[in-house]
Amino acid sequence: MVAAIINGKEIAAKKRLEIAKMVENLKENDIVPGLAVILVGNNAASRTYVTNKQKACQELGMNSLLIELPEAVSEKELLGKIIELNDNPKFHGILVQLPLPKHIDEKKVIETISPLKDVDGFHPVNIGRMMIGQDGFLPCTPFGIMILLEETGISVAGKHVVIVGRSNIVGKPLGQLMLNQHATVTYCHSKTKDLKLHTSQADILIAAVGIPNFIKAEDVKEGAVVIDVGINRNESGKLCGDVDFAEVSQKAGFITPVPKGVGPMTITMLLYNTVKAASESIHR
Ligand code: GUN
Repeated sequence: MVAAIINGKEIAAKKRLEIAKMVENLKENDIVPGLAVILVGNNAASRTYVTNKQKACQELGMNSLLIELPEAVSEKELLGKIIELNDNPKFHGILVQLPLPKHIDEKKVIETISPLKDVDGFHPVNIGRMMIGQDGFLPCTPFGIMILLEETGISVAGKHVVIVGRSNIVGKPLGQLMLNQHATVTYCHSKTKDLKLHTSQADILIAAVGIPNFIKAEDVKEGAVVIDVGINRNESGKLCGDVDFAEVSQKAGFITPVPKGVGPMTITMLLYNTVKAASESIHR
């Protein structure tokens, strides 16, 4: 079987048009959605991600502010900036780009962001809300994957979803979103015994391990939906996912490519969350 490609770039573009309309509606009520991004230090990958987030905001007519702080900034000063932004009505979303330097407690930083402005969906309040199916901000990558499936017409109810990777940002919350939509979920990770035994039973297989070409055709059930969250570089420096695309695309039913798969959805859902935060600010 040759897999159908799930085109994340196209789906993201369609969603961004919908979000642009939401921005227009808010502007009619004199509200311009605003995202404040804090970048600490000089990590090249983080800088690229932050630039892309800001560009996406500008393309949709949203306000964006970049606050750059030096690597040596104190935790106190960083927390102070967040507290200022919590009180600034011009910015509806606050994002602190991770990872942070070792001397700063990431947990404290995330917990200082107001849950009402936590457009990353990382605050324990939003994670808790998601756990019990209450409205809040959903983490952008898992949220984007749910939209990719929905837009492709793939229902997850009753399906066996196997997730390889259990990070707080992707694997764990994605499993919860799948469960909320009535999937049967198996989490696999570095200590899982006989990984293939699990992955080969998946109706929907999620690879989020950060190892280039880790999932091979033999790990996948014929006709399965394969979602690749990996963003890696192979030996020749070329961008590649966690799934061996050449092999697996000959066996799966659907597959996301890297690039142009899950990646474009992450920023799209960040934009959505920021517009949602702006829209909800009207009622406070
Ligand atoms: N670093 C890598 N991915 C992310 C993300 O989605 N949000 C933030 N804040 N930092 C990240």
